[in-house]
Amino acid sequence: MIEELRKLWPELEWIKDPDLREQTTKTWALALKKSVMSPEDLNKIPFTLLAGPDLKVSFMAHKRAVVHIARESGLKMNEFFGEELPVNMDILISGAILADVGKLLEYEKNNEGESVQGQYGKYLRHPFSGVSLAEQCGVPAEVCHIIAAHAAEGDLVKRSTEAYVVHHADFMTFLPFKNKF
Ligand SMILES: [Fe+2]
Repeated sequence: MIEELRKLWPELEWIKDPDLREQTTKTWALALKKSVMSPEDLNKIPFTLLAGPDLKVSFMAHKRAVVHIARESGLKMNEFFGEELPVNMDILISGAILADVGKLLEYEKNNEGESVQGQYGKYLRHPFSGVSLAEQCGVPAEVCHIIAAHAAEGDLVKRSTEAYVVHHADFMTFLPFKNKF
């Protein structure tokens, strides 16, 4: 499983703290264990159903792009703002990797073997299920906050700097697909 996860998420290596790297890896392992989705499915299915049937960008391509954009943004903010607005890179990268981990519980397979949205996600959207998975794996509150606040629900809370970065990295790579110009 760990080998499989390293292949799925090479970005796990960017987390410097070994404990946080392990907690982050374990959370994805737990989600995959509970999910009907396999790593191959995640590299194949479109990342959103809201952009029409022709979207070819995969779930993993989108999730990994968000992590890369968040990391670059954090590095630039640290470079230009320094102690005025410190970004904790480990917390940022772990949170970006985990932001959508709860989505793995939102899918069911229908009779044709296709992945469709299931009932569970209607009751507990992925920011909630993601926090639940992460807490079971010992992920600290600063990272759970990013999972909890990365989507629209997070507009109701005061976001940490790292949560703002992940939120914007996520939405800047989603809205242009959803609202094609
Ligand atoms: Fe999300």
